[in-house]
Amino acid sequence: MKISLVGAGAIGNLWAGALAKQGHQLHLWRRQPGNTYTLNWQDVHSSREDTFCFDSNQPEQLANSDVIFITVKAFQVADAVTTLLPWLSADTPVIIMHNGMGTEDEVLSLLPDNPVLYATTAQAAFRPDPHSVRHTGNGPTYLGGVNPAGLACSGLAELLHTALPPCHWQTDIHEPQWQKLAINCAINPLTAIHQCRNGELSETRYADELTAVCHEVSAVMTAAGYPIDTVTLRQQVMAVIEATAANYSSMQQDVAHQRPTEIDAITGFLIRQANHFQIATPANTRLWQHIKDLEQHYD
Ligand code: PAF
Repeated sequence: MKISLVGAGAIGNLWAGALAKQGHQLHLWRRQPGNTYTLNWQDVHSSREDTFCFDSNQPEQLANSDVIFITVKAFQVADAVTTLLPWLSADTPVIIMHNGMGTEDEVLSLLPDNPVLYATTAQAAFRPDPHSVRHTGNGPTYLGGVNPAGLACSGLAELLHTALPPCHWQTDIHEPQWQKLAINCAINPLTAIHQCRNGELSETRYADELTAVCHEVSAVMTAAGYPIDTVTLRQQVMAVIEATAANYSSMQQDVAHQRPTEIDAITGFLIRQANHFQIATPANTRLWQHIKDLEQHYD
């Protein structure tokens, strides 16, 4: 397939290399100028390395794509989609993958005719430099449509599954999105504030705060139609903390490099939903405020 990928961050590069290894023709649409982009793709488990030279920033390739895959951060999604509009044909499926939630309404108004799909992944990647990516952890990816045309594209789950298994088709993509958001609400702000690896959050000094966050998240998820109790969510958070103990979270990395974080799409989305359902979220609001303060004091 001819695939245009927008957003060459760690996760974007991970998928670009994995899809190219399956023989698909990848074209990268990047903010940085240049007609080509070289990527060194490393698999930490097999120690295998592949080098790719992708075409980049070529509008005619964008127009001829069979599928568009957008992996920018949540706060960049609307701008990214807007820059594609002059070249995008209305029948090209658009897959959007980012941490957090809350971009869907704007995307659907920008793309009223295209099949629109969202994906969420537990695959982990690390970008040691702008031309390298390391696949550092395996986990499931979920894909689902958010409009009728998108819901008719279940075959695209197979495309992702062959590249980086497993990928499951989801008739309600909001369910795995909420589950991922719940984990991110617990792990991302705390690791960013304390500048620690995920594993450090298993220390007893974080236990009460993690429980308070999980309690609020479970109340909001339940009100939104995705019921989960605090104990189950707390256990799921601990399982991810242990499984990713050696990793730095994406928000820890953003704060360490003084980049804008995804706090508004993660904890901010939770707080907006909580306000809608009139649920108090003091623990999450404190974390949200702390990250906003950190962002405001970047050099
Ligand atoms: O954002 C991240 O870093 C990841 O989603 C997670 C699950 C917190 C693991 O680091």
